[in-house]
Amino acid sequence: MESGFTYEDYRNTAEWLLSKIKHRPQVAVICGSGLGGLADKLTETQIFNYSDIPNFPQSTVPGHAGRLLFGSLNGRACVMMQGRFHMYEGYPLWKVTLPIRVFQLLGVDTLVVTNAAGGLNPKFEVGDIMLIRDHINLPGLCGQNPLIGPNDERFGVRFPAMSDAYDREMRQKAHSTWKQMGEKRELQEGTYVMVLGPSFETVAECRMLQKLGADAVGMSTVPEVIVARHCGLRVFGFSLITNKVILDYESLEKANHEEVINTGKQAAQKLEQFVSILMASIPPPDHAS
Ligand code: HPA
Repeated sequence: MESGFTYEDYRNTAEWLLSKIKHRPQVAVICGSGLGGLADKLTETQIFNYSDIPNFPQSTVPGHAGRLLFGSLNGRACVMMQGRFHMYEGYPLWKVTLPIRVFQLLGVDTLVVTNAAGGLNPKFEVGDIMLIRDHINLPGLCGQNPLIGPNDERFGVRFPAMSDAYDREMRQKAHSTWKQMGEKRELQEGTYVMVLGPSFETVAECRMLQKLGADAVGMSTVPEVIVARHCGLRVFGFSLITNKVILDYESLEKANHEEVINTGKQAAQKLEQFVSILMASIPPPDHAS
């Protein structure tokens, strides 16, 4: 489905925000389910409800606040999404990814994505943090890509590469920073696979996703990353493993949203702290361009 927004729509939203914010952000952070606490680390905060921002969709999921915050995170000028949009809410992908292009027009050069995900890799434990090395765009392979439709060259090229979607330098810095934090559990790294949801996966689907080479499964993130890479943003991000997927027909456990929100409260704080520390490792803005 082609974008229902014109370049002017993205610009209008960006200009509406620019007329109100005190500082232009360099970094955009998307807070996944249960990770909205990152916003408490912002200083000099300015808050907008999605419902007040021209063209913004609404967030309909419990655990996703629906607010856009501007402020300083560990010294970096940031814009933060407390609550994101999902395809399973019924939004087309051009609506899901609207904020990314608006951020680019605001001058953002780096996108940090976070999400809650189910652990497919048997080495993962609930509460682990997985640095995202790569993704599998399962909806994309089945015909749902946010870049479908006429390409707008003002944002990026027709056929953007995705082989280097997750910034190598920031991944290295994430590993060294994690070591300095002295955590007992190692930082995991792996491939995130996006499924559409909202139903959780069957046992057979989980086994299939494992065989495809995925380490964690969730219902978000990939569309935003594709649109961000298309318009030239540096991207890195993390999955918080909130549950282990069910791989066994004898299991009495069942995935549920409350578990996703609640299990990882402590781990969520750890991830929030980690993201905040990593702000200092993002290269400074390139004023030359
Ligand atoms: N599957 C899909 N999405 C998820 C899961 C899961 O197990 N956990 C958190 N988000």
